[in-house]
Amino acid sequence: MAKRLAAEGAKVVVTDIGAPSGEQFTRQHIGTESEMDEIVTEIKDAGGTAVAQICDVRKESDVAATVLRAVREFGRLDIIVNNAGIGYLMADILNLEQADWDTVLDVNLRGVFFGIKHAAKQMIAQGGGGRIINIASQAAKRGFPGAAAYVSSKHGLVGLTRTAALEFGGHGITVNSICPNHVTTGLGAWQNDHFSAARGRSHDDYMAEMRGRIPLGRVGLTTDIAGMCAFLCSGEADYITGQNLDVSGGEEMH
Ligand SMILES: NC(=O)c1ccc[n+]([C@@H]2O[C@H](COP(=O)([O-])OP(=O)(O)OC[C@H]3O[C@@H](n4cnc5c(N)ncnc54)[C@H](O)[C@@H]3O)[C@@H](O)[C@H]2O)c1
Repeated sequence: MAKRLAAEGAKVVVTDIGAPSGEQFTRQHIGTESEMDEIVTEIKDAGGTAVAQICDVRKESDVAATVLRAVREFGRLDIIVNNAGIGYLMADILNLEQADWDTVLDVNLRGVFFGIKHAAKQMIAQGGGGRIINIASQAAKRGFPGAAAYVSSKHGLVGLTRTAALEFGGHGITVNSICPNHVTTGLGAWQNDHFSAARGRSHDDYMAEMRGRIPLGRVGLTTDIAGMCAFLCSGEADYITGQNLDVSGGEEMH
């Protein structure tokens, strides 16, 4: 999404947590500072403009500082994409620890609340409207056994998106979420391993079954999500707000 928006002319602040912080964050890979720098370099090499900023979305002060950085670098903030999320703390409800529940909700839902709050404050102060894009999930539209915290956080984003759309519509700020089904990112690959093992299936069987459920016959690509993101940021989407849009090859239809 950062690369696609930069290609469309957006000046981009690339953010990630940058380093593990807390026990839950050492269990899986998280985005490092050098990975952020690589994206910035790719964007610059392609003729775009980008800077990197470490931001732990669980901390309101980090999110506020990231918005300030965008304004300091580029003069204003027109778009925020609330994308940070964790999907690797999975357990059925009877075995789900409070610490894991809290971490998932803190990143996936509270982090987006901070992003919306500080971006909207800036957009209202500067005038001219804005675009807020939240990355929800297919898990915002249905339950998944073994994923109560993740599913709850993503369902929460639907309500947060609708409420923010109502609160900020008068300022010309649109607020929408994108609901992807499976995309084989770092998080997606981990989930494939986890769920295929949990169901006693081979990885290939599990993926074939998944493709079989999808009317368009393939899993999602990061470019599919980036395309929807670019559309929602464009003038073509001026009259769309408060929506939670499936990008799922037809797997979700509501
Ligand atoms: N991959 C999928 O199949 C899929 C499907 C639906 C929705 N999503 C959602 O898409 C978004 C992006 O996920 P992805 O698939 O690219 O996974 P990913 O693991 O590659 O990316 C998620 C990023 O969030 C970062 N992050 C985690 N905690 C953070 C924190 N406290 N502060 C800042 N950054 C933090 C991680 O470091 C990581 O780089 C997530 O919100 C995820 O829930 C993914």
